[in-house]
Amino acid sequence: MSKAHFGLIGLGVMGENLVLNAERNGFSSVVYNRTFSKTQEFLNGRGANKKIEGAVDLQDFVDKLDRPRRILMMIKAGPAIDAVIDQISPYLQAGDLLIDGGNSEFRDTERRVAKLESKSFGYIGMGVSGGAKGAFDGPSMMPGGTKASYEAIENLVCKMAAQVDDGPCVTYIGPGGSGHFVKTVHNGIEYAIEQILAEAYDLMKRVAGMDGNEMANVFSSWNSTEELSSYLVEITEVCLRTKDPDDKSDLVEKIMDKAGQKGTGLWTVVSALELGASVPTIYSSLNARVISSMKTQRVKAESILNGPALKTFDMGDPSNGMPILMDAVIAASMASYAQGMDLLRIASDEYKYNLDMHSIAQIWKGGCIIRARLLKRIQDAFNADPKLLNLLLDPWFAGQINSRMSGLAKIVSGAAEAGIPVPCLSSTLDYINSYRTSRLPQNLVQAMRDCFGSHTYERVDKDGSFHTEWLE
Ligand code: 6PG
Repeated sequence: MSKAHFGLIGLGVMGENLVLNAERNGFSSVVYNRTFSKTQEFLNGRGANKKIEGAVDLQDFVDKLDRPRRILMMIKAGPAIDAVIDQISPYLQAGDLLIDGGNSEFRDTERRVAKLESKSFGYIGMGVSGGAKGAFDGPSMMPGGTKASYEAIENLVCKMAAQVDDGPCVTYIGPGGSGHFVKTVHNGIEYAIEQILAEAYDLMKRVAGMDGNEMANVFSSWNSTEELSSYLVEITEVCLRTKDPDDKSDLVEKIMDKAGQKGTGLWTVVSALELGASVPTIYSSLNARVISSMKTQRVKAESILNGPALKTFDMGDPSNGMPILMDAVIAASMASYAQGMDLLRIASDEYKYNLDMHSIAQIWKGGCIIRARLLKRIQDAFNADPKLLNLLLDPWFAGQINSRMSGLAKIVSGAAEAGIPVPCLSSTLDYINSYRTSRLPQNLVQAMRDCFGSHTYERVDKDGSFHTEWLE
């Protein structure tokens, strides 16, 4: 019997969909799951009548694969990955390849690439984005590892990926853990945009008193614009239109206001802090999830801490897409991409990833959660200047920000006066105002540091390092 082209370990929802995707694209497959009953269930169900066979154990799995073996692991990030690597390694031969398609921490991937490559196996850490549907239809994929290892899977992943006007949504990202690093930052941007849209929803509901359908109509109109047309805006409309089958009221209002997280947003922020990258909009979205989880405390604090009375303010006519609010959402979304790209640029230098920002924008145009029409503009910006320091300095983005700052400021000040938190919108306003200010008040911070700790300071009028005895 001929051997299979592709192996998958882990029949969770993502694994199932990815193997069906591979098989549909002409790669006969073999699947292994820790519990064989799950494998049987899959082969008798969605995997039936396809070129997919099951394996009872890892030896059987490896034996059924063509060489070099290409094995995708879709299992929980963390120690489970190391355990599977240890279990399967004795059956592998030089040149065989393991791919981790989960959301692994990029440093874990660095370590695993070094370990496996030193044993002459290939190891790819590959971010996969698009959720269950994307995995089946075609996700965006961010593979990192050695170039030789990538070349061994190139044909497979190029066929499996989402396809856009200029090619598949996959490319070689770079060495080591770079694929998982780029996926982590993708998720940081994902967190920020989700929170920005949630803030817009909160303002529409509480300030403008709109119901689910009215809000959905505004999101629908935003989704038809070049600046906001995106998967996340599209699903926001769907979420707001969906009714509770029990009483036909807006389902979203029945959902507990506590947001979970699995780690990637946190890792984005930790990496940014470590690397000295400024990502306040992304950080604010993470913090918004943290504070949202303190439900009991928030309920208590509501009766103790006073704020201004809720008051309305002008966010623009809903029948015209609430243009003032839209300005704020556009500016914050652009800032989120700018901060994420900036973090990638800094990490690329520090970790020697040699990231190609233009290609990263290209592979995010389809399949992934942050896909958006705006990515074409991001691609163009890095095409025009591959070393662009900040996306907001690109002429098209600068024009957009300049024309939308007043709307952003109106929304943030209106929200402040109405006592409504808008952490991503307000941190974006401060981010842009700080970034465009050539003289910030950190001269005073430097003076204080030197005053109490002799930390020294630089001067604007002469070179050198200076210290003053401030308290004499
Ligand atoms: C994707 C997503 C996905 C991620 C979830 C959960 O690109 O398909 O980023 O990989 O796991 O969105 O993220 P949180 O649970 O941390 O929100």
